[in-house]
Amino acid sequence: MTSNQLDKKSEAWSALFSEPMSELVQRYTASVFFDKRLWRADIQGSLAHAEMLAAQGIISPDDLAAIQRGLSQISSEIESNQFDWKLALEDVHLNIEARLTQLAGDAGKRLHTGRSRNDQVATDIRLWLRGEIDLIADLLRELQSALIEVAEKHIDVILPGFTHLQVAQPVSFAHHLLAYVEMFARDEQRMGDVRHRVNQLPLGSAALAGTTYPLDRERVARTLGMEGVCQNSLDAVSDRDFAIEFTAAASLVMVHISRLSEELILWMSQNFAFIRIADRFTTGSSIMPQKKNPDVPELARGKTGRVVGHLVGLITLMKGQPLAYNKDNQEDKEPLFDTVDTLRDTLRIFVEMIGGQPDAQTGAKEGGITVNAPAMEAAAQKGYATATDLADYLVKKGLPFRDAHETVAHAVKAASSHGCDLSELPLKVLQEFHPAIDKDVFDVLSLRGSLEARNTLGGTAPAQVKAQIARHHERLRA
Ligand code: ARG
Repeated sequence: MTSNQLDKKSEAWSALFSEPMSELVQRYTASVFFDKRLWRADIQGSLAHAEMLAAQGIISPDDLAAIQRGLSQISSEIESNQFDWKLALEDVHLNIEARLTQLAGDAGKRLHTGRSRNDQVATDIRLWLRGEIDLIADLLRELQSALIEVAEKHIDVILPGFTHLQVAQPVSFAHHLLAYVEMFARDEQRMGDVRHRVNQLPLGSAALAGTTYPLDRERVARTLGMEGVCQNSLDAVSDRDFAIEFTAAASLVMVHISRLSEELILWMSQNFAFIRIADRFTTGSSIMPQKKNPDVPELARGKTGRVVGHLVGLITLMKGQPLAYNKDNQEDKEPLFDTVDTLRDTLRIFVEMIGGQPDAQTGAKEGGITVNAPAMEAAAQKGYATATDLADYLVKKGLPFRDAHETVAHAVKAASSHGCDLSELPLKVLQEFHPAIDKDVFDVLSLRGSLEARNTLGGTAPAQVKAQIARHHERLRA
Protein backbone atom coordinates (compact mmCIF):
# COMPACT_ATOMS: atom_id res chain seq x y z
CA MET A 1 0.00 0.00 0.00
CA THR A 2 1.19 3.52 -0.71
CA SER A 3 1.01 6.01 2.13
CA ASN A 4 -1.93 7.60 0.40
CA GLN A 5 -3.77 4.29 0.29
CA LEU A 6 -2.91 3.61 3.93
CA ASP A 7 -4.57 6.85 4.90
CA LYS A 8 -7.72 6.00 3.06
CA LYS A 9 -8.06 2.31 3.47
CA SER A 10 -11.81 2.86 3.42
CA GLU A 11 -11.51 3.45 -0.28
CA ALA A 12 -10.09 0.00 -0.97
CA TRP A 13 -7.31 -2.22 0.31
CA SER A 14 -5.41 -2.41 -2.93
CA ALA A 15 -5.82 -2.48 -6.65
CA LEU A 16 -7.40 -5.88 -6.22
CA PHE A 17 -10.54 -4.50 -4.60
CA SER A 18 -13.26 -3.07 -6.77
CA GLU A 19 -15.29 -1.31 -4.06
CA PRO A 20 -14.62 0.37 -0.73
CA MET A 21 -15.47 -1.13 2.61
CA SER A 22 -18.81 0.05 3.99
CA GLU A 23 -18.71 2.11 7.15
CA LEU A 24 -20.45 -0.59 9.10
CA VAL A 25 -17.92 -3.21 8.04
CA GLN A 26 -15.11 -0.80 8.84
CA ARG A 27 -16.39 -0.33 12.37
CA TYR A 28 -17.02 -4.04 12.72
CA THR A 29 -13.54 -5.06 11.70
CA ALA A 30 -11.55 -2.26 13.33
CA SER A 31 -9.75 -2.84 16.60
CA VAL A 32 -7.80 0.39 16.96
CA PHE A 33 -9.95 1.78 19.76
CA PHE A 34 -8.95 -1.04 22.03
CA ASP A 35 -5.68 -2.34 20.61
CA LYS A 36 -4.02 1.11 20.61
CA ARG A 37 -3.23 0.12 24.16
CA LEU A 38 -0.49 -2.09 22.67
CA TRP A 39 1.34 0.84 21.10
CA ARG A 40 4.43 0.69 23.29
CA ALA A 41 4.93 -3.02 22.58
CA ASP A 42 4.26 -2.41 18.89
CA ILE A 43 6.99 0.22 18.70
CA GLN A 44 9.38 -1.85 20.80
CA GLY A 45 8.86 -4.82 18.45
CA SER A 46 9.29 -2.63 15.35
CA LEU A 47 12.54 -1.16 16.65
CA ALA A 48 13.97 -4.62 17.33
CA HIS A 49 12.86 -5.83 13.89
CA ALA A 50 14.31 -2.78 12.08
CA GLU A 51 17.60 -3.00 13.93
CA MET A 52 17.90 -6.67 12.89
CA LEU A 53 16.95 -5.87 9.26
CA ALA A 54 19.81 -3.35 9.16
CA ALA A 55 22.28 -5.72 10.85
CA GLN A 56 21.43 -8.34 8.22
CA GLY A 57 21.90 -5.81 5.40
CA ILE A 58 18.22 -6.03 4.41
CA ILE A 59 17.69 -2.30 4.96
CA SER A 60 20.32 0.44 4.94
CA PRO A 61 21.70 2.18 8.05
CA ASP A 62 20.02 5.37 6.80
CA ASP A 63 16.66 3.65 6.62
CA LEU A 64 17.15 2.33 10.14
CA ALA A 65 18.00 5.80 11.43
CA ALA A 66 14.92 7.27 9.74
CA ILE A 67 12.71 4.53 11.21
CA GLN A 68 14.16 5.10 14.69
CA ARG A 69 13.61 8.86 14.45
CA GLY A 70 10.08 8.39 13.18
CA LEU A 71 9.11 5.86 15.84
CA SER A 72 10.56 8.06 18.54
CA GLN A 73 8.46 10.98 17.34
CA ILE A 74 5.38 8.74 17.20
CA SER A 75 6.02 7.69 20.81
CA SER A 76 6.06 11.32 21.90
CA GLU A 77 2.91 12.05 19.91
CA ILE A 78 1.04 9.15 21.47
CA GLU A 79 2.30 9.94 24.96
CA SER A 80 1.19 13.55 24.70
CA ASN A 81 -2.15 12.61 23.20
CA GLN A 82 -1.31 14.30 19.90
CA PHE A 83 -1.52 11.16 17.81
CA ASP A 84 -4.44 11.03 15.43
CA TRP A 85 -5.81 7.48 15.69
CA LYS A 86 -7.85 6.65 12.60
CA LEU A 87 -10.60 4.09 12.53
CA ALA A 88 -10.08 3.76 8.78
CA LEU A 89 -6.61 2.40 9.51
CA GLU A 90 -8.16 -0.48 11.39
CA ASP A 91 -5.66 -1.27 14.11
CA VAL A 92 -2.69 -0.05 16.11
CA HIS A 93 -0.22 -1.59 13.66
CA LEU A 94 -1.51 0.11 10.53
CA ASN A 95 -1.99 3.42 12.34
CA ILE A 96 1.61 3.52 13.49
CA GLU A 97 2.98 2.29 10.16
CA ALA A 98 1.00 4.90 8.21
CA ARG A 99 2.27 7.70 10.42
CA LEU A 100 5.82 6.37 10.15
CA THR A 101 5.54 6.43 6.38
CA GLN A 102 4.36 10.05 6.55
CA LEU A 103 7.38 10.89 8.68
CA ALA A 104 10.07 8.68 7.14
CA GLY A 105 8.90 8.12 3.56
CA ASP A 106 10.22 4.98 1.88
CA ALA A 107 12.17 3.94 4.98
CA GLY A 108 8.81 3.67 6.78
CA LYS A 109 7.49 1.47 3.99
CA ARG A 110 10.52 -0.82 4.33
CA LEU A 111 9.84 -1.59 8.02
CA HIS A 112 7.31 -4.25 7.13
CA THR A 113 9.90 -6.26 5.15
CA GLY A 114 9.84 -9.89 6.27
CA ARG A 115 7.00 -9.20 8.67
CA SER A 116 3.22 -9.54 8.70
CA ARG A 117 0.65 -8.17 11.08
CA ASN A 118 0.08 -11.77 12.08
CA ASP A 119 3.47 -12.25 13.69
CA GLN A 120 3.52 -8.59 14.70
CA VAL A 121 0.32 -8.74 16.76
CA ALA A 122 1.29 -12.03 18.41
CA THR A 123 4.60 -10.43 19.41
CA ASP A 124 2.90 -7.29 20.71
CA ILE A 125 0.47 -9.17 22.95
CA ARG A 126 3.25 -11.30 24.36
CA LEU A 127 5.46 -8.30 25.12
CA TRP A 128 2.60 -6.41 26.71
CA LEU A 129 1.38 -9.38 28.72
CA ARG A 130 4.88 -10.12 30.01
CA GLY A 131 5.01 -6.66 31.60
CA GLU A 132 1.55 -7.06 33.10
CA ILE A 133 2.45 -10.47 34.55
CA ASP A 134 5.40 -8.86 36.32
CA LEU A 135 3.17 -6.20 37.87
CA ILE A 136 0.64 -8.82 38.93
CA ALA A 137 3.35 -11.00 40.48
CA ASP A 138 4.56 -7.98 42.49
CA LEU A 139 1.02 -7.31 43.70
CA LEU A 140 0.62 -10.95 44.69
CA ARG A 141 3.74 -10.64 46.81
CA GLU A 142 2.46 -7.44 48.39
CA LEU A 143 -0.80 -9.14 49.25
CA GLN A 144 1.04 -12.07 50.84
CA SER A 145 3.10 -9.62 52.91
CA ALA A 146 -0.04 -7.77 54.02
CA LEU A 147 -1.67 -11.02 55.13
CA ILE A 148 1.48 -12.13 56.95
CA GLU A 149 1.68 -8.82 58.75
CA VAL A 150 -1.84 -9.22 60.12
CA ALA A 151 -1.18 -12.89 60.89
CA GLU A 152 1.92 -12.07 62.92
CA LYS A 153 -0.12 -9.93 65.27
CA HIS A 154 -2.76 -12.61 65.82
CA ILE A 155 -0.95 -15.89 66.33
CA ASP A 156 -2.68 -16.46 69.68
CA VAL A 157 -6.10 -15.30 68.60
CA ILE A 158 -8.44 -18.26 68.36
CA LEU A 159 -11.46 -18.53 66.11
CA PRO A 160 -13.64 -21.48 65.30
CA GLY A 161 -12.40 -23.41 62.29
CA PHE A 162 -15.32 -24.61 60.21
CA THR A 163 -16.08 -27.54 57.98
CA HIS A 164 -19.45 -27.38 56.23
CA LEU A 165 -19.64 -23.96 57.95
CA GLN A 166 -20.26 -25.86 61.20
CA VAL A 167 -17.91 -25.23 64.11
CA ALA A 168 -15.22 -27.90 63.81
CA GLN A 169 -12.01 -27.23 65.75
CA PRO A 170 -10.34 -24.12 67.14
CA VAL A 171 -7.69 -22.56 64.93
CA SER A 172 -5.33 -19.65 65.21
CA PHE A 173 -6.47 -16.61 63.21
CA ALA A 174 -2.91 -16.35 61.91
CA HIS A 175 -3.12 -19.93 60.67
CA HIS A 176 -6.36 -19.10 58.88
CA LEU A 177 -4.80 -16.10 57.12
CA LEU A 178 -1.71 -18.10 56.21
CA ALA A 179 -3.93 -20.51 54.28
CA TYR A 180 -4.55 -17.60 51.87
CA VAL A 181 -0.84 -16.82 51.78
CA GLU A 182 -0.30 -20.36 50.47
CA MET A 183 -2.93 -19.81 47.76
CA PHE A 184 -1.47 -16.49 46.64
CA ALA A 185 2.05 -17.95 46.72
CA ARG A 186 0.95 -20.68 44.32
CA ASP A 187 -0.76 -18.03 42.18
CA GLU A 188 2.50 -16.12 42.01
CA GLN A 189 4.32 -19.29 40.96
CA ARG A 190 1.69 -20.02 38.35
CA MET A 191 2.14 -16.54 36.89
CA GLY A 192 5.88 -17.19 36.75
CA ASP A 193 5.32 -20.47 34.90
CA VAL A 194 2.99 -18.84 32.39
CA ARG A 195 5.54 -16.07 31.85
CA HIS A 196 8.08 -18.50 30.37
CA ARG A 197 5.64 -19.60 27.70
CA VAL A 198 4.46 -16.03 27.02
CA ASN A 199 8.03 -14.84 26.64
CA GLN A 200 8.73 -16.51 23.26
CA LEU A 201 9.14 -14.66 19.99
CA PRO A 202 6.67 -15.12 17.09
CA LEU A 203 8.24 -12.36 14.94
CA GLY A 204 9.91 -13.74 11.85
CA SER A 205 7.07 -16.17 11.22
CA ALA A 206 5.61 -13.53 8.89
CA ALA A 207 2.07 -14.29 7.69
CA LEU A 208 2.22 -18.03 8.37
CA ALA A 209 5.08 -19.80 6.61
CA GLY A 210 8.19 -17.83 7.45
CA THR A 211 9.88 -15.42 5.05
CA THR A 212 12.35 -15.32 2.19
CA TYR A 213 14.59 -12.70 3.84
CA PRO A 214 17.62 -13.82 5.86
CA LEU A 215 16.19 -12.77 9.23
CA ASP A 216 18.03 -13.33 12.49
CA ARG A 217 15.19 -14.21 14.80
CA GLU A 218 17.44 -15.10 17.72
CA ARG A 219 18.85 -11.60 17.63
CA VAL A 220 15.38 -10.04 17.80
CA ALA A 221 14.51 -12.34 20.72
CA ARG A 222 17.64 -11.23 22.58
CA THR A 223 16.91 -7.56 21.89
CA LEU A 224 13.41 -7.96 23.28
CA GLY A 225 14.56 -9.96 26.32
CA MET A 226 12.63 -13.01 25.19
CA GLU A 227 13.61 -16.48 26.33
CA GLY A 228 13.28 -18.19 22.98
CA VAL A 229 11.93 -18.13 19.45
CA CYS A 230 8.66 -19.84 18.49
CA GLN A 231 9.81 -22.84 16.46
CA ASN A 232 6.87 -23.27 14.10
CA SER A 233 5.61 -20.32 12.09
CA LEU A 234 2.04 -21.65 11.74
CA ASP A 235 1.75 -22.19 15.47
CA ALA A 236 3.45 -18.89 16.29
CA VAL A 237 0.96 -16.69 14.44
CA SER A 238 -2.17 -18.57 15.38
CA ASP A 239 -2.29 -20.04 18.86
CA ARG A 240 -3.31 -17.91 21.78
CA ASP A 241 -2.86 -20.63 24.39
CA PHE A 242 -0.52 -18.35 26.33
CA ALA A 243 -3.34 -15.82 26.76
CA ILE A 244 -5.77 -18.55 27.76
CA GLU A 245 -3.27 -19.92 30.25
CA PHE A 246 -2.77 -16.49 31.72
CA THR A 247 -6.52 -15.97 32.03
CA ALA A 248 -6.82 -19.36 33.74
CA ALA A 249 -4.12 -18.35 36.23
CA ALA A 250 -5.90 -15.01 36.70
CA SER A 251 -9.20 -16.83 37.27
CA LEU A 252 -7.61 -18.86 40.05
CA VAL A 253 -6.30 -15.71 41.71
CA MET A 254 -9.81 -14.27 41.54
CA VAL A 255 -11.29 -17.48 42.95
CA HIS A 256 -8.94 -17.20 45.92
CA ILE A 257 -9.82 -13.53 46.31
CA SER A 258 -13.47 -14.49 46.11
CA ARG A 259 -13.16 -17.07 48.89
CA LEU A 260 -11.38 -14.53 51.07
CA SER A 261 -14.08 -11.98 50.24
CA GLU A 262 -16.80 -14.34 51.29
CA GLU A 263 -15.09 -14.80 54.65
CA LEU A 264 -14.54 -11.08 55.15
CA ILE A 265 -18.23 -10.52 54.43
CA LEU A 266 -19.29 -13.19 56.92
CA TRP A 267 -16.81 -12.06 59.55
CA MET A 268 -17.95 -8.46 59.45
CA SER A 269 -21.64 -9.29 59.65
CA GLN A 270 -23.23 -8.51 63.02
CA ASN A 271 -23.80 -12.18 63.70
CA PHE A 272 -20.09 -12.91 63.59
CA ALA A 273 -18.57 -9.50 64.41
CA PHE A 274 -15.08 -11.04 64.10
CA ILE A 275 -13.53 -8.12 62.24
CA ARG A 276 -14.08 -4.60 61.05
CA ILE A 277 -12.78 -3.34 57.76
CA ALA A 278 -11.92 0.31 57.47
CA ASP A 279 -14.86 2.57 56.56
CA ARG A 280 -13.23 3.59 53.30
CA PHE A 281 -13.94 0.13 51.91
CA THR A 282 -17.59 0.10 52.89
CA THR A 283 -20.67 2.02 51.84
CA GLY A 284 -23.86 3.04 53.56
CA SER A 285 -27.41 2.31 52.61
CA SER A 286 -29.70 4.95 51.17
CA ILE A 287 -32.58 3.72 53.30
CA MET A 288 -31.17 1.93 56.37
CA PRO A 289 -29.04 4.36 58.35
CA GLN A 290 -27.43 1.67 60.50
CA LYS A 291 -25.82 -0.16 57.55
CA LYS A 292 -22.18 -0.45 56.59
CA ASN A 293 -21.97 -2.70 53.60
CA PRO A 294 -18.85 -4.61 52.54
CA ASP A 295 -19.11 -3.45 48.92
CA VAL A 296 -15.46 -3.98 48.05
CA PRO A 297 -15.29 -7.69 48.95
CA GLU A 298 -18.73 -8.22 47.44
CA LEU A 299 -17.67 -6.64 44.17
CA ALA A 300 -14.46 -8.66 44.14
CA ARG A 301 -16.53 -11.80 44.56
CA GLY A 302 -18.75 -10.60 41.71
CA LYS A 303 -15.86 -9.68 39.42
CA THR A 304 -14.56 -13.21 39.77
CA GLY A 305 -17.44 -14.29 37.56
CA ARG A 306 -16.39 -11.74 35.00
CA VAL A 307 -12.80 -13.00 34.82
CA VAL A 308 -13.87 -16.64 34.68
CA GLY A 309 -16.21 -15.56 31.87
CA HIS A 310 -13.22 -14.16 29.96
CA LEU A 311 -11.45 -17.51 30.34
CA VAL A 312 -14.43 -19.29 28.86
CA GLY A 313 -14.63 -16.67 26.11
CA LEU A 314 -10.99 -17.02 25.12
CA ILE A 315 -10.88 -20.77 25.16
CA THR A 316 -14.02 -20.91 23.06
CA LEU A 317 -12.51 -18.39 20.66
CA MET A 318 -9.62 -20.74 19.94
CA LYS A 319 -11.68 -23.86 19.53
CA GLY A 320 -12.39 -24.76 15.92
CA GLN A 321 -9.90 -22.37 14.32
CA PRO A 322 -7.99 -24.02 11.49
CA LEU A 323 -4.31 -23.15 11.07
CA ALA A 324 -3.00 -20.56 10.81
CA TYR A 325 -4.06 -16.98 11.68
CA ASN A 326 -7.76 -16.12 11.53
CA LYS A 327 -9.36 -12.79 12.24
CA ASP A 328 -11.20 -14.46 15.13
CA ASN A 329 -8.02 -13.85 17.08
CA GLN A 330 -8.62 -10.13 17.12
CA GLU A 331 -11.27 -10.96 19.71
CA ASP A 332 -8.57 -12.06 22.15
CA LYS A 333 -7.76 -8.53 23.20
CA GLU A 334 -10.75 -7.13 25.06
CA PRO A 335 -11.16 -10.13 27.38
CA LEU A 336 -7.44 -10.19 28.00
CA PHE A 337 -7.25 -6.45 28.72
CA ASP A 338 -10.25 -6.60 31.01
CA THR A 339 -8.82 -9.60 32.85
CA VAL A 340 -5.59 -7.71 33.51
CA ASP A 341 -7.39 -4.53 34.58
CA THR A 342 -9.82 -6.32 36.86
CA LEU A 343 -7.12 -8.42 38.46
CA ARG A 344 -4.73 -5.53 39.01
CA ASP A 345 -7.36 -3.27 40.54
CA THR A 346 -8.66 -6.06 42.74
CA LEU A 347 -5.21 -6.98 44.02
CA ARG A 348 -4.32 -3.34 44.67
CA ILE A 349 -7.47 -2.75 46.65
CA PHE A 350 -6.98 -5.94 48.65
CA VAL A 351 -3.41 -5.05 49.57
CA GLU A 352 -4.77 -1.80 50.98
CA MET A 353 -7.87 -3.32 52.56
CA ILE A 354 -5.95 -6.04 54.40
CA GLY A 355 -2.74 -4.30 55.28
CA GLY A 356 -3.42 -0.58 54.84
CA GLN A 357 -2.07 1.84 57.41
CA PRO A 358 -3.62 5.06 58.68
CA ASP A 359 -2.44 7.89 56.46
CA ALA A 360 -3.20 11.54 57.17
CA GLN A 361 -2.49 12.49 53.56
CA THR A 362 -5.11 10.24 52.04
CA GLY A 363 -7.48 10.66 54.99
CA ALA A 364 -7.20 6.97 55.89
CA LYS A 365 -7.97 6.95 59.60
CA GLU A 366 -7.93 3.21 60.16
CA GLY A 367 -5.55 0.42 59.21
CA GLY A 368 -6.80 -2.43 57.06
CA ILE A 369 -8.72 -4.91 59.15
CA THR A 370 -9.34 -4.71 62.89
CA VAL A 371 -9.70 -8.01 64.71
CA ASN A 372 -12.24 -8.58 67.49
CA ALA A 373 -10.41 -11.37 69.34
CA PRO A 374 -12.98 -11.80 72.15
CA ALA A 375 -15.78 -12.32 69.62
CA MET A 376 -13.74 -14.93 67.77
CA GLU A 377 -12.94 -16.77 70.97
CA ALA A 378 -16.52 -16.62 72.19
CA ALA A 379 -17.63 -18.17 68.91
CA ALA A 380 -15.04 -20.92 69.26
CA GLN A 381 -16.43 -21.68 72.73
CA LYS A 382 -19.75 -22.50 71.13
CA GLY A 383 -20.26 -25.62 69.07
CA TYR A 384 -18.07 -28.08 71.00
CA ALA A 385 -14.93 -27.26 69.10
CA THR A 386 -12.81 -29.35 71.47
CA ALA A 387 -14.83 -32.57 71.14
CA THR A 388 -12.10 -34.15 68.99
CA ASP A 389 -9.61 -33.28 71.70
CA LEU A 390 -11.65 -35.25 74.22
CA ALA A 391 -11.73 -38.21 71.86
CA ASP A 392 -7.96 -37.99 71.35
CA TYR A 393 -7.56 -37.81 75.16
CA LEU A 394 -9.48 -41.07 75.54
CA VAL A 395 -7.43 -42.71 72.79
CA LYS A 396 -4.30 -41.80 74.71
CA LYS A 397 -5.89 -43.53 77.73
CA GLY A 398 -6.17 -46.71 75.66
CA LEU A 399 -9.62 -46.53 73.98
CA PRO A 400 -9.93 -47.39 70.29
CA PHE A 401 -10.70 -44.17 68.37
CA ARG A 402 -14.15 -45.28 67.23
CA ASP A 403 -15.21 -46.00 70.82
CA ALA A 404 -13.77 -42.70 71.99
CA HIS A 405 -15.74 -40.94 69.23
CA GLU A 406 -18.97 -42.54 70.41
CA THR A 407 -18.28 -41.76 74.09
CA VAL A 408 -17.67 -38.10 73.27
CA ALA A 409 -20.89 -37.95 71.23
CA HIS A 410 -22.76 -38.88 74.42
CA ALA A 411 -20.89 -36.26 76.40
CA VAL A 412 -21.69 -33.58 73.78
CA LYS A 413 -25.34 -34.57 73.87
CA ALA A 414 -25.37 -34.20 77.65
CA ALA A 415 -23.57 -30.86 77.56
CA SER A 416 -25.90 -29.55 74.93
CA SER A 417 -28.97 -30.57 76.95
CA HIS A 418 -27.46 -28.63 79.89
CA GLY A 419 -26.77 -25.75 77.54
CA CYS A 420 -23.08 -25.68 78.43
CA ASP A 421 -19.68 -26.42 76.93
CA LEU A 422 -17.84 -29.71 77.48
CA SER A 423 -15.33 -27.90 79.66
CA GLU A 424 -18.17 -26.70 81.88
CA LEU A 425 -19.36 -30.22 82.77
CA PRO A 426 -18.19 -31.21 86.27
CA LEU A 427 -15.50 -33.89 86.37
CA LYS A 428 -17.97 -36.30 88.01
CA VAL A 429 -20.38 -35.99 85.12
CA LEU A 430 -17.59 -36.46 82.59
CA GLN A 431 -16.43 -39.58 84.43
CA GLU A 432 -19.86 -41.09 83.96
CA PHE A 433 -19.06 -41.28 80.27
CA HIS A 434 -15.76 -42.97 80.93
CA PRO A 435 -13.90 -43.74 84.17
CA ALA A 436 -10.52 -43.04 82.54
CA ILE A 437 -11.36 -39.33 82.47
CA ASP A 438 -9.36 -37.41 85.04
CA LYS A 439 -8.94 -33.77 85.98
CA ASP A 440 -6.16 -33.29 83.39
CA VAL A 441 -9.02 -33.50 80.88
CA PHE A 442 -9.67 -29.79 81.37
CA ASP A 443 -6.32 -28.97 79.76
CA VAL A 444 -7.40 -30.59 76.54
CA LEU A 445 -10.91 -29.16 76.72
CA SER A 446 -9.60 -25.59 76.69
CA LEU A 447 -9.34 -23.83 73.35
CA ARG A 448 -5.71 -23.02 73.93
CA GLY A 449 -4.86 -26.59 74.91
CA SER A 450 -6.58 -27.80 71.77
CA LEU A 451 -4.64 -25.34 69.62
CA GLU A 452 -1.29 -26.17 71.15
CA ALA A 453 -1.86 -29.89 70.77
CA ARG A 454 -1.96 -29.63 66.97
CA ASN A 455 1.75 -29.32 66.73
CA THR A 456 2.41 -31.26 63.53
CA LEU A 457 3.94 -29.65 60.46
CA GLY A 458 1.23 -27.52 58.86
CA GLY A 459 -0.91 -27.61 62.00
CA THR A 460 -2.41 -24.70 63.88
CA ALA A 461 -0.25 -24.80 67.04
CA PRO A 462 1.37 -21.39 67.60
CA ALA A 463 4.83 -22.96 67.34
CA GLN A 464 3.98 -24.25 63.85
CA VAL A 465 2.41 -20.96 62.82
CA LYS A 466 5.52 -19.07 63.90
CA ALA A 467 7.69 -21.46 61.89
CA GLN A 468 5.51 -20.86 58.82
CA ILE A 469 5.68 -17.11 59.22
CA ALA A 470 9.48 -17.33 59.38
CA ARG A 471 9.50 -19.46 56.23
CA HIS A 472 7.28 -16.99 54.39
CA HIS A 473 9.51 -14.07 55.41
CA GLU A 474 12.52 -15.93 54.11
CA ARG A 475 10.75 -16.78 50.86
CA LEU A 476 9.47 -13.26 50.24
CA ARG A 477 12.85 -11.70 50.95
CA ALA A 478 14.39 -13.78 48.17
N1 ARG B 1 -5.80 -6.49 14.37
C1 ARG B 1 -5.40 -7.83 14.05
C2 ARG B 1 -5.51 -8.72 15.29
O1 ARG B 1 -5.72 -8.22 16.33
C3 ARG B 1 -3.98 -7.82 13.59
C4 ARG B 1 -3.64 -8.94 12.68
C5 ARG B 1 -4.39 -8.79 11.42
N2 ARG B 1 -3.96 -9.70 10.44
C6 ARG B 1 -4.67 -9.94 9.34
N3 ARG B 1 -4.21 -10.80 8.53
N4 ARG B 1 -5.80 -9.34 9.12
O2 ARG B 1 -5.42 -9.92 15.23
